[in-house]
Amino acid sequence: MTQTTRPSPEQLLSIGEVSERTGVAKSALHYYEQLGLISAERTTGNQRRYHRHMVRRVSLIVVAKRLGIPLTDVAQALAELPHDTKPTTGDWRRVSKVWRTTLVERRRELERLEHELTGCIGCGCLSMTACKLLNPDDELGAEGPGARRLLGSTDASE
Ligand code: FES
Repeated sequence: MTQTTRPSPEQLLSIGEVSERTGVAKSALHYYEQLGLISAERTTGNQRRYHRHMVRRVSLIVVAKRLGIPLTDVAQALAELPHDTKPTTGDWRRVSKVWRTTLVERRRELERLEHELTGCIGCGCLSMTACKLLNPDDELGAEGPGARRLLGSTDASE
């Protein structure tokens, strides 16, 4: 087992410094910390101090946001990365591979929706039988005749 040396206070970053380096608002950093995506130590005065490698975690969150990766997926990926050391190239490669798969799946879903859009002429009818966007593959028709959504809904909030 390797022993990690504790960084001196000068090697740690304040929340303002992390915010400045990443372009992420302090409030967002608080939120990411609440979600367990990043972590900080506390000074005796109860101020947050971040290890320098937390900047990389925040950068990864920024990239994920740009890609439209949900925070739950980001949390899953970051949970597999070490909190106490800088992630390795292999760690980042593994995360990017998972997200690449997510993006491919999303592209396929968009292509499927685009295909369904061609089955919708955008006439505004929103017909359960004619509109492919409203009722793809006539899923509601398989449940029987009538207004399926109204009859099937028991949730008062819908
Ligand atoms: S709105 Fe009429 S077919 Fe989609």
